[in-house]
Amino acid sequence: MRSEITTPEVLPEERVSDAALRPSRLDEFVGQAKVKESLQIAIDAAKQRQEPLDHALFFGPPGLGKTTLAMLMARELGVDIRVTSGPVLERPGDLVGMLTTLKPGDILFIDEIHRLRPALEEFLYPAMEEFRVDVRIADGPHAQTLPMRLERFTLIGATTRFGLLTPPMRARFGLVERLSYYPPDDLAQIITRSAGILGVQADAAGVAEIARRSRGTPRVANRLLKRVRDYAQVRAGGKITAAVALEALKRLDVDEFGLDDMDARILRTIIEQFEGGPVGIQTIAAAVGEDPGTLEEVYEPFLMQQGFLARTPRGRCATPGAYRHFGYPPPTSVNTGDQPSML
Ligand SMILES: Nc1ncnc2c1ncn2[C@@H]1O[C@H](COP(=O)(O)OP(=O)(O)O)[C@@H](O)[C@H]1O
Ligand SMILES: [Mg+2]
Repeated sequence: MRSEITTPEVLPEERVSDAALRPSRLDEFVGQAKVKESLQIAIDAAKQRQEPLDHALFFGPPGLGKTTLAMLMARELGVDIRVTSGPVLERPGDLVGMLTTLKPGDILFIDEIHRLRPALEEFLYPAMEEFRVDVRIADGPHAQTLPMRLERFTLIGATTRFGLLTPPMRARFGLVERLSYYPPDDLAQIITRSAGILGVQADAAGVAEIARRSRGTPRVANRLLKRVRDYAQVRAGGKITAAVALEALKRLDVDEFGLDDMDARILRTIIEQFEGGPVGIQTIAAAVGEDPGTLEEVYEPFLMQQGFLARTPRGRCATPGAYRHFGYPPPTSVNTGDQPSML
């Protein structure tokens, strides 16, 4: 089996080791039990019927395993996978070569599929539905299209921005799976496995310390593990204990809850500029310089899960926990915005 592994939006340095740490079998893929189970059922059914798998869409915040799952599906099905991504495809012609060389059951993986241009999306519809593409063979007034038949393949799309997918595109996926943030226990399992691969000793308390600060995200967990390993090697005799992890993470300025820069900016903005809210998402977006949809789909889920942010009908509010986290006294009555006070 040949699989082309490309992970856009990660540093080249990380790409190498990312591949080494990426699970190569579905049973090494930790957590996400519900997702794994429905994928396993779909895989087994497709295999029994000797049919290609339905087109599948994975969505959720970055670093949770969407690309990994696509690779694992190919492996489980014993098919080849071709990898591309929405932003690199400019014209339908860019897809023709890939599509026409797919063998029956092969997978075409389109990362960041929400960024496909409309012309490409329309070009894909008949490919997904009828395994046919209409190839333009001339331009201008004498433009002609030539229908070409494709093998029955499986398209797997991944996106961090489900809300940006057009309804007709969404409707063409038979399997739609959302990945969610990992609980610390799952992250600990991932870190333990990665430590084994990297050949670094880590005790349970050291692993737990890293897991807690990984923003619920395997990619972050692996990145922190590598930085802590460096510190352990150079300053602490090579073994990752709780004390070593704590010291290393402190030096890296890693937030106690794993909040990243944007998480912190969002919360600080609500607290410092809007008295804790409620404040509208558009307003927050303008203040932090990010688009509202990304805030909603990529950042807010984590902040809400951690209990730092509340969504109310009148807007977003920072919770008392968020105040304390940034060293502010919580306001005496937090205005949650959903109950007009009569006092
Ligand atoms: N469930 C998991 N179990 C073990 N490792 C994982 C899991 N999910 C992700 N990873 C690790 O995190 C890294 C990032 O995952 P990736 O699939 O690239 O995320 P996404 O495509 O959602 O941004 C992978 O290289 C892999 O090592
Ligand atoms: Mg990816």
